Amino acid sequence: MGKKIIQISDVHFGDITFSEVLKSNLLAQLEDANPDLLIFAGDLTASGFFHEYGEACEFVDELQSITQAHLIPGNHDVRNVGLVHFENLVSKRKFVHTDKSSNFTIIGLDSSEADVSHGQIGRDQMDWLKSELAKIPDDRAKVVTFHHHIIPIPQTGRERNILLDSGDLMHVLTENGVDFVLNGHKHVPNVWMLNNMVVLNSGTATTGKLRGNMCASYNELEINDGEVLVNMVKTENGSKKQMAHYSMEVKDESFVIHSYTHNPIHTV
Ligand SMILES: [Fe+2]
Ligand SMILES: [Fe+2]
Repeated sequence: MGKKIIQISDVHFGDITFSEVLKSNLLAQLEDANPDLLIFAGDLTASGFFHEYGEACEFVDELQSITQAHLIPGNHDVRNVGLVHFENLVSKRKFVHTDKSSNFTIIGLDSSEADVSHGQIGRDQMDWLKSELAKIPDDRAKVVTFHHHIIPIPQTGRERNILLDSGDLMHVLTENGVDFVLNGHKHVPNVWMLNNMVVLNSGTATTGKLRGNMCASYNELEINDGEVLVNMVKTENGSKKQMAHYSMEVKDESFVIHSYTHNPIHTV
């Protein structure tokens, strides 16, 4: 059965460059797309303030009225003790979502740290991740989402804010057969594949906090009969650009990605 998953991040309610027009476009596009699931990969607000969460919660309610949405916090959401509001008003800091009909499980983690731009998963959460991954049967696709990037991304200038424990996390993810990682944070969409694991970053969906020639965007994953198609969707007009295409199957009782195409969206 076909599935459509939307990956959004970095809407930043309260930011000076936040665009109501882009927000309206985004919600209209999501209504039309009618996705089965939405993953929000952090940075709902600009500074974690209560009034920003007020507006953000209306947006989250609209997302939830369109489809099932899972959210995790970003570094901006926990500024100024904003994690209190995130947990009270929006969501828990981590989640596990299993879709038995399409045979995938998504685990969400909190990579944020109070009042700094960098982040980490930390030892306790790493242990929890390992135990949750161990519960997932090998024939199911494993997806993990957290806000900060785990590998440097092109066209983002000087590297900074990569997860402090990215090496250890990369080890845990690849050793436990994770197939897809969904991140936000850098406001630049990108796709990498490392050790047979796809790392997919979404841009900022609703702001002008853009680098170089990037535009406001989000990602759409279409899962159909042994393949996944990944599109970057421009929030301004809903136009799509294919970022990646994967073929996959369950082989010897294990889920494997057996071929892929990546279409570069950067000129470096
Ligand atoms: Fe952000
Ligand atoms: Fe961020």
